[in-house]
Amino acid sequence: MDTRRIPHPPRRVPVLGDILGVSPRTPVQDSVRIARDLGAPLFVRKIFDKEIVFVCGAGPAADLSDEKRFAKHVGLGIEALRNLGGDGLFTAYSHEPNWQAAHDILAPAFTQSAMRTYHPVMRDMAHRLLSHWDVADGPVDVAADMTKLTLETIARTGFGYDFGSFDRDTPHPFVTAMTGALRHAQRKTVRLPGVGNLLARGADRRNTERLGFLTEIIDDVIRARRADGEEHTDDLLGLMLHTSHAETGRPLDEVNIRNQVITFLVAGHETTSGALSFALHHLAANPQILARARAEADAVWGPPGDEAPDPSFEQIPKLRYIRRVLDETLRLWPTAPAYGRQARADTVLDGTYAMRKGDWALVLLPALHRDPSVWGPDPEVFDPDRFEPAAVRARPAHTYKPFGTGARACIGRQFALHEAILVLGLLVHRYDLVPDPSYELQVTELLTMKPEGFTLEVRRRTT
Ligand code: HEM
Repeated sequence: MDTRRIPHPPRRVPVLGDILGVSPRTPVQDSVRIARDLGAPLFVRKIFDKEIVFVCGAGPAADLSDEKRFAKHVGLGIEALRNLGGDGLFTAYSHEPNWQAAHDILAPAFTQSAMRTYHPVMRDMAHRLLSHWDVADGPVDVAADMTKLTLETIARTGFGYDFGSFDRDTPHPFVTAMTGALRHAQRKTVRLPGVGNLLARGADRRNTERLGFLTEIIDDVIRARRADGEEHTDDLLGLMLHTSHAETGRPLDEVNIRNQVITFLVAGHETTSGALSFALHHLAANPQILARARAEADAVWGPPGDEAPDPSFEQIPKLRYIRRVLDETLRLWPTAPAYGRQARADTVLDGTYAMRKGDWALVLLPALHRDPSVWGPDPEVFDPDRFEPAAVRARPAHTYKPFGTGARACIGRQFALHEAILVLGLLVHRYDLVPDPSYELQVTELLTMKPEGFTLEVRRRTT
């Protein structure tokens, strides 16, 4: 893409590019700051030998959503994750036949009726979290506990596997290895060419060991299922082991199934855990919003008692305000913060910038979701009423994209929303959320985003 006319950060230095004042630990937050300072709908950042075009304005973002002209681009962080997810759904190139096959085979696992079968497991895991918080001795580490909850939920609903996260004081080794692999992939995207690879040889070796360890865990998940002798077809693993692709008549191959299991274990918990953590941060920091969310939960379940409510599947969509809290959380903190789009043929972006076939750009979601021309002069203000139906209808299309776009958008969207609304509802119904008054939101990035060091004192509400 000819980037000469695209704005770039002011302090560009030869060879290194636009790296002054930025950190390899916070590439997204740094880029969002650059976007705000430049105030342009798109900009280019040069990092060593790479040029990355970031789209942060509603106009070009809507353009990139045109499926006829653009498709998912597997590059940067996602490409660096290929050695973890291979041709699994998230990291697959769209032209790989396994993408379509797995997408078609797994689609039934994400219908409304599938959500109904997952609901009891989601509810049990939410209750498990409540039992954990009921006896908390001091403030709880929110992101760590949300990770336990969401990992258990996807592992049990998807694969009938129990990581025993709530019975451990430290994260499950799967989580530690996964975090290491995500960090490695993030660093790899901004490596100095040539010498950078030499310097990172030790880190690359450790990562290979990590991936070997993750593969062992995945093989154990699959072995455990095969050993139970029953032919489940009502979850992800069952569908993959026992269904053939309608078009080709072939089932998914062993390696691809392993890639899908790791993909779902990672994609299915990391982002939802971050979303829940950010939502709790905003609820605790905004007592009036918390009061409205709580009033809604009380209206559905009655006043809090000793026993936690036993939510039915049908009650979850009734928690409309809590859904808006979550929508607004994902506006400010889209936990998968960027996605790439590449031109299917020569085209012009936003009526101005020529793109050749294969040229790509990254949609920088936290910046798009703060575009003042769409969200008004105070985009940093947390206000769930932005998602009142009338307000949503009044906004232009393609301005809110926390789950991506087009054929490669998030397959787990309904799963994430059902789980998160259920959990948030039960938490606001049961507890007063008391934040540490000295805490200021710090965000940690590992390709996804999470609040760092965020604790809450949770006190049972009195009736
Ligand atoms: C709040 C939670 C979540 C967020 C914000 C989120 C966000 C996203 C985004 C932005 C994409 C598109 C990435 C791209 O275009 O490169 C995506 C894809 C995907 N997500 Fe999610 N996700 C969430 C939860 C989940 C859950 C719970 C699952 C599984 C149960 C899941 C599984 C996937 C998969 C497999 C893909 C790849 C789909 C494909 O390309 O065919 N995600 N997600």
